[in-house]
Amino acid sequence: MIYFENVSKIYNCNGSSDPCVALDSINLRIRPQEFISLAGPSGAGKSTLLKLLIGEEKPTEGKVMLDNQNLNLVSLKHLPEIRRKIGMVFQDFRLLANRTAYENVAFAMEAAGDSNKEIGQDVPQVLDVVGLADKRDYFPHQLSGGEKQRVAIARALVHRPSVILADEPTGNLDLLNTWDIIKLLLKINELGTTIILATHDRDIINNLSRRVITLDKGKLIRDEQKGRYIL
Ligand SMILES: Nc1ncnc2c1ncn2[C@@H]1O[C@H](COP(=O)(O)OP(=O)(O)OP(=O)(O)O)[C@@H](O)[C@H]1O
Ligand SMILES: [Mg+2]
Repeated sequence: MIYFENVSKIYNCNGSSDPCVALDSINLRIRPQEFISLAGPSGAGKSTLLKLLIGEEKPTEGKVMLDNQNLNLVSLKHLPEIRRKIGMVFQDFRLLANRTAYENVAFAMEAAGDSNKEIGQDVPQVLDVVGLADKRDYFPHQLSGGEKQRVAIARALVHRPSVILADEPTGNLDLLNTWDIIKLLLKINELGTTIILATHDRDIINNLSRRVITLDKGKLIRDEQKGRYIL
């Protein structure tokens, strides 16, 4: 369960005397295994909301809860435990260029202190889930955009998180690869993972026909089951 209670985020903005209000009094409840699109124009606060969930930013006001844990109170030392529960995927993939698909996923496990035995078991398994078993030894420059995003999704999945946050994951992909990635996220959702997909892509949102939460200028302006993109 994810729970935002009266959450505001105000950044210190350089060179301006006005505060930068990125999120303004957000109240939100997300149940396990939901598939949510987070919509809204550029600057609406979508990425900020996701950053609060992985503990990369703290709220200025209010409370963010993940599985009964108040993220405001999580110390840096315990952040890795949160990161195991939440996988994150970005528009620009963020793969290590000098490592293969296999090694990119394995690296996330090494960094988290997993054993070689676990790595040897789990990496092939997640590469299989994302359909890349046959390209495990390819480097990022040998993979298409869609394949690179699959590696990033495999990496996000490797600790069996309860939630995947995807921030414009199809922003650098063509139409065909976009739908491949959306279908993969739907499959992962069906296997039991909550998905929060931040996107401005009207076609994706309208075709998904799932819950849509719309932000505008930091405010939650709409929250609809089977929503459509309206702005
Ligand atoms: N580190 C920061 N310092 C200051 N202001 C910031 C910072 N990060 C974001 N902002 C501001 O907060 C607001 C929300 O930004 P955010 O990145 O969350 O929007 P977004 O909805 O993800 O936009 P986009 O669709 O362009 O990715 C914007 O006005 C942005 O300028
Ligand atoms: Mg963003």
